[in-house]
Amino acid sequence: MDKRYVITTPIYYVNAAPHIGTALTTLASDVTARYHRLRGAKTFFLTGTDENGIKVMEAAERAGKTTREFVDELSAEFRRIFDGMGIAYDDFIRTTEERHTRTVVAFFEKLKESGHIYLGKYEGWYDVGSETFFKESELVDGKSPDGNEVRWVEEDNYFFKLSAFEKPLLDHLQWHPRFILPEPRRNEVAAFIRSGLRDTCITRTNHGWGVPVPGEPDKVIYVWFDALINYVSATGWPEPGWEERWPADVQWMGKDILTRFHATLWPAMLMAMDLPLPHTLMGHAWMLMGGEKISKSRGNVVPPLELAAELAERSGCAYDLAVDAVRYFMAAAMPCESDTTFTHDEFDRRYNADLANDLGNALNRSLSMAHKFTGGVVPDSPVELEAQAAIRQAKEGFETAMEDFRVHEAAESALALVRFLNKYIDRRAPWALAKAQDPAVGSVIRSMLLCLRAVEGLIRPILPSTADAIARQLGVAPTANWKEIGTQSSLPTKTALMIPEPMFPRLELATRRPEMKTPAPTEEPKTDDAQIGIDEFKKVQLRVARILEAEPLEGSDKLMRLQVIVDGAKRQIVAGIRKNYDPLDLIGRQIVVVANLKPAVVRGAESQGMLLAAVDEDGGAILLQPDRETPESAVVR
Ligand code: MSP
Repeated sequence: MDKRYVITTPIYYVNAAPHIGTALTTLASDVTARYHRLRGAKTFFLTGTDENGIKVMEAAERAGKTTREFVDELSAEFRRIFDGMGIAYDDFIRTTEERHTRTVVAFFEKLKESGHIYLGKYEGWYDVGSETFFKESELVDGKSPDGNEVRWVEEDNYFFKLSAFEKPLLDHLQWHPRFILPEPRRNEVAAFIRSGLRDTCITRTNHGWGVPVPGEPDKVIYVWFDALINYVSATGWPEPGWEERWPADVQWMGKDILTRFHATLWPAMLMAMDLPLPHTLMGHAWMLMGGEKISKSRGNVVPPLELAAELAERSGCAYDLAVDAVRYFMAAAMPCESDTTFTHDEFDRRYNADLANDLGNALNRSLSMAHKFTGGVVPDSPVELEAQAAIRQAKEGFETAMEDFRVHEAAESALALVRFLNKYIDRRAPWALAKAQDPAVGSVIRSMLLCLRAVEGLIRPILPSTADAIARQLGVAPTANWKEIGTQSSLPTKTALMIPEPMFPRLELATRRPEMKTPAPTEEPKTDDAQIGIDEFKKVQLRVARILEAEPLEGSDKLMRLQVIVDGAKRQIVAGIRKNYDPLDLIGRQIVVVANLKPAVVRGAESQGMLLAAVDEDGGAILLQPDRETPESAVVR
């Protein structure tokens, strides 16, 4: 039987559509689920919407809709956005579904029977924002500790005997070091529990929208108590078969809902029910914008699919790959211990550096060179040891990172293999081996292609459409089994390769979002005829390019024909540099070129750009090159 693997996200409040902050938890869970599916597990990946509580009712009122209409629309919106982001959940639960209310009622009744729930009187300050009661002593300047308005409430209500679980919870933490990750949050949770647990009020009187208390229609169940039960309702409990879907292997969430709810109330409820506890609760940090948590109420929302559509438009990449780019950004920037800040500049920077340059060049160069030097097929030569070692290291790095749910480190491991591949190509210079008719060229090309195939497998949980595109260009089926990654049989010899297709065109600065453009100078500086303004200079697009091939141009003793790679594509440049340079001195070097010069024909050969060189005493060229290795196609200004 397949091993099973259960992953849950929190269920999302339907008071606003998802943004990249809320989508972060879901993306991390999706990467986890896709990774375990590739490893052969039968996953149960659960997400959904939290549709009860006063907050939702009030948001519906503000929107001028009935609560039912409002929750239906917003829950559908969450699904639309998650589907659009390629979130491959196995089940989507809504707390207004009958299967959920039925389980909540059964839970409540069982806890009442076993004496874990009792009727008492509640007086306290109620924070509608977080649906939580506070003591007078807990208020800060008359507000909740989170800064929300509170109102005084007095009610007859049911209480859950949380205080009885202080010791069992602390014992569990002690014996299960992986119960709470990342590590530092475990100490926060232990400190919270040790500071003393009070019984929790789990019903509300006359608060409208929620699961009614059995036999007492004037009361509803407290939204957090009801919401946490979703993880069990979705398993079908108490019907047979629920054990296939519980306990969860990992429950992903943001740090704000870890300590008090998921790491205290939730395991205590499960203990009271005699149900098993989840293996790991993973509490990631927040994504901030302008120093604040991203949230609708703060008006700093970035919707993930709009970010993708805008990227597709600005860069010219296919929409499904733009969605992957957003997924990649979220995975690579996943805040773990500490918060991270989202900026559009950083999003663009990562897109250009990691996807357009590193991944784009690795794909383009590997396939182009295989076409040029080994006839467009995977050659039948041994894979070099250093390539095998790099693949192994990246794969192990990915696995170790995912073991601890460190999605950002897993992304980094996959990218490390891409960077290795680019450096390996530069160092092993297959063009020079081919020129020297060195038989090692076959091994180098096969090693390059196997690295690319391994990259395809490793990035698959994060960038599924990109992985499909790479597999197609390699002429093989998508990696379907994690074990195959890095094996020589994953890319059989003689496989016919496709001509590389550009996937992630570079973003030009000029295509930045309007509010990001540098403001135009208010006053034009004075110029004379010999001077040009900065705007004129800016029209010249200077880029770092890498020389892939070089050969003397026939019929000329000054000109050299170069093939360079710039902006992910190959270009021919004809340059008068023969006097000072030999072709073999040039291959692999980084130089600076004018990238937007109109093509011209020089001695019968088309030149698609110009390189920059200083002029020596005899009129010969001295090439300008960056003083250290530079990201591919870096802008020069
Ligand atoms: N409905 C509750 C959860 C109940 S689970 C039984 C809830 N919903 S929420 O919509 O407010 O938040 C859902 C998830 O999104 C949480 O994990 C939260 O931490 C995460 N995030 C919301 N904004 C976020 C950021 N700006 N950054 C990172 N995560 C954020 O809480």
